[in-house]
Amino acid sequence: MSAPLLPGGTIGILGGGQLGRMSAIAARRMGYKVKTFDPSSSACAAMVADSHTTAAWNDIEALRRFAEGCERVTLEFENIPPATVSQINEWVPCHPSAEVLAICQNRRREKEFLKAQGIPCAHFVVVSSHDELSAAVKKIGVPCVLKTADFGYDGKGQVKISNTDTNLEDVWEKIGDGVGVLEAWVPFQLEISVIVARTEDGRTAVYDPAENIHRNHILHLSLSPARISDATRREAQTLALQIAEKIKLVGIMAVEMFVQDGRIIVNELAPRPHNSGHQTFDANQTSQFEQHVRAVCGLPLGGTEMLKPSVMLNLLGDLWRNGQTPDWSKVLKEPAAKLHLYDKGQAAPGRKMGHITVTADSLEAALQKAEALFAALTK
Ligand SMILES: Nc1ncnc2c1ncn2[C@@H]1O[C@H](COP(=O)(O)OP(=O)(O)O)[C@@H](O)[C@H]1O
Ligand SMILES: [Mg+2]
Repeated sequence: MSAPLLPGGTIGILGGGQLGRMSAIAARRMGYKVKTFDPSSSACAAMVADSHTTAAWNDIEALRRFAEGCERVTLEFENIPPATVSQINEWVPCHPSAEVLAICQNRRREKEFLKAQGIPCAHFVVVSSHDELSAAVKKIGVPCVLKTADFGYDGKGQVKISNTDTNLEDVWEKIGDGVGVLEAWVPFQLEISVIVARTEDGRTAVYDPAENIHRNHILHLSLSPARISDATRREAQTLALQIAEKIKLVGIMAVEMFVQDGRIIVNELAPRPHNSGHQTFDANQTSQFEQHVRAVCGLPLGGTEMLKPSVMLNLLGDLWRNGQTPDWSKVLKEPAAKLHLYDKGQAAPGRKMGHITVTADSLEAALQKAEALFAALTK
């Protein structure tokens, strides 16, 4: 077990996206120095880091240079090769571990882990050919959804199968060859996520579930607190804590869940800060980003208490119509709205450029304001 890394020390972050950027901002606020590593030289986390290394994930020499001077390393991106993380970990403690990463970045391993631990998740069958897919569809029934085992995000790498007469050869082709997971479709009422943090010595902290509303498979709004009963909230938090312990998480993890008739079905694990936790920056005692830093550095974990109900609205590149930056004065004139932009440069449809958090005394009021802001920005 490594000694706590106190403020003043240097944290390395693998990955240079907005999750790394906001983690770096939280770390710097506490007095840490931050080094980032990403294959892109214009990574938006690099802009707020003390130094940045641009290199491929398998560039050992560059990894060694990056690790030099880091006293703790973490990550903000799921699809880093686990071998990169184990290599770094030989030089300096890296959390989460290569083992955690390997489970969470592959749907097959993720689902098999959940099932083995007795965590409720959708029925699934692993398939690696068109014939296996046909047999699996018969077994699982329709509707169901085929997902690639590797590299899925924001609904990419997924095909829903709604009818028994669907042409499964086409479906299999869309997934490409390789391994897929066929999952029963869950007729859920709500999607929620729970953020949980855990330190190397087993201390944990858990946030209230957020309710997630997607548009075109991308998170649109995240409502905090989720509109669920107290019993469902407790069950969701208990499951997230169980998963963090069973997987031996060190760091922070988001657990995505479906709520169906008050029951929880776990969908996905992300061992890093998560889009549905962005509102914690403005609406909770400790943000998920600060908690991430505290967990990987072995500090006492911060309070997770929600200070005010909030709604987080994602700002996608679609809002930059004809290359025009949206009129932020529409947002800034709302005193309860906090604008976060990630300095990502070129906007593209579906690209996450920033977010807004709106707080209010009630969730309904925050939702109304967030919807009004979205309408004003899209007008
Ligand atoms: N088994 C399922 N039943 C119902 N809806 C699903 C199922 N799997 C995925 N979805 C829907 O698709 C979305 C994206 O799927 P998910 O597994 O979270 O992949 P990713 O977020 O990596 O793209 C989910 O948020 C949910 O809305
Ligand atoms: Mg998901």
